[in-house]
Amino acid sequence: MFTLFCFDVLPVVQGLGADTVAGSSSASVSGSGIVARGGGGGGEIRSLLHLQQKGSSSSALFNVKSFGAQANGHADDTKGYLKATTDLSKYGSSAGWVEFGWVEGLTLTGGGTFDGQGAKAWPYNKCSIDSSCKLLPTNLKFVAMNKTVVRGIRSLNSKFFHLALVECKNFKGSEINISAPANSPNTDGIHIERSSSVYFSRSLIGTGDDCISVGQGNSQVTVTSITCGPGHGISVGSLGRYPNEGDVRGLVVRDCTMTGTMNGIRIKTWPNSPDQSAATNMTFENIVMNNVTNPIIIDQEYCPFTSCASLAPSRVKLSDIYFKKIRGTSSSAVAVTLECSKGIPCQNIYLEDVHLDFLSGEKTATSSCRNVKVKYIGTQIPPPCT
Ligand SMILES: *[C@@H]1O[C@H](CO)[C@@H](O)[C@H](O)[C@H]1NC(C)=O
Ligand SMILES: *[C@@H]1O[C@H](CO)[C@@H](O)[C@H](O)[C@H]1NC(C)=O
Ligand SMILES: *[C@@H]1O[C@H](CO)[C@@H](O)[C@H](O)[C@H]1NC(C)=O
Ligand SMILES: *[C@@H]1O[C@H](CO)[C@@H](O)[C@H](O)[C@H]1NC(C)=O
Repeated sequence: MFTLFCFDVLPVVQGLGADTVAGSSSASVSGSGIVARGGGGGGEIRSLLHLQQKGSSSSALFNVKSFGAQANGHADDTKGYLKATTDLSKYGSSAGWVEFGWVEGLTLTGGGTFDGQGAKAWPYNKCSIDSSCKLLPTNLKFVAMNKTVVRGIRSLNSKFFHLALVECKNFKGSEINISAPANSPNTDGIHIERSSSVYFSRSLIGTGDDCISVGQGNSQVTVTSITCGPGHGISVGSLGRYPNEGDVRGLVVRDCTMTGTMNGIRIKTWPNSPDQSAATNMTFENIVMNNVTNPIIIDQEYCPFTSCASLAPSRVKLSDIYFKKIRGTSSSAVAVTLECSKGIPCQNIYLEDVHLDFLSGEKTATSSCRNVKVKYIGTQIPPPCT
């Protein structure tokens, strides 16, 4: 068991380097803004704070005051606020800023803010031009966690992804506010990979990249009541880029609103996939699009670096995908784009009660389809592909 309380630890956290509390087994942060509690032993919390308590099942209260934080009269003790250092040399490779791993029963809550101070780091992000780019730190990374609850926290201006889940089971996130400027690179709100039984709800996400991205190897992921924008929308993928990717199964996204985003719901897979994989049984229901460039888009030639025209088709099989009650406005003329792999056409794609108007009002929106036979039910605006 461990408990991590964070409140106004600004003085300490600003000056934080790996050296501050490195190696301590009882490092800590204490107060009332951000509260993390874990049951079960053997977990670790890592960050530049090197907060960790390995292999112990006794309870511990980590107190940052012992590392110099002062609950002085100026501090706002009601809201935690953690600021990440802007010195990139302090972060390990592929590490998160604050990282939780191998803990069962962690709850992270309390209304506090994790401020990644990304603005200084964003110019160092070369991922849009270099496919083997060095990744900047994710604000909050959860690795191999079981039974985690994250509720009522704020993540601001992460250097890279805001929250990332890798190999987590039974994860519940709610009332999470995430924000970064519309032009900040790879600041995905929530990225989920190789995880199962994940539930995110009632959150506000506005970033420079996907609000939520559901990567490879996930099953039973449910996303409800998310307000997204600015950003690139809610994405599945990108899939099919690396060898041995897992399938995506059992995704439900419902009751969400997208405003001013580049995409609404996007499924993207790379051409020339090294291995075969699948994304199946996915439902997108009751989604409002306000001024969205591509409200519904399947893109199986996703390839941001080079032209993909000459590459082999994607080997990710997309099937049993339901778009229901999708309504609102498209800022581009093509509101529905379903471009599937010519190697493995999409199967069982359903569009039910879709009403998307072209925002400009001059003409009606259109649909574009390739390598797919769509099953249409109910209202269809734009008109179906012929
Ligand atoms: C996660 O917790 C559930 C419920 O307690 C348990 O059945 C399962 O074995 C745990 N999984 C892992 C990977 O620890
Ligand atoms: C998230 O933003 C909403 C609306 O501004 C606010 O009411 C809520 O308290 C915020 N939650 C957190 C955890 O910051
Ligand atoms: C499809 O996904 C839903 C939601 O995760 C799940 O409840 C259902 O059992 C899945 N259906 C099949 C046929 O796997
Ligand atoms: C639509 O969104 C774009 C940004 O994508 C913005 O510039 C424009 O003002 C918005 N228009 C409306 C009518 O909201």
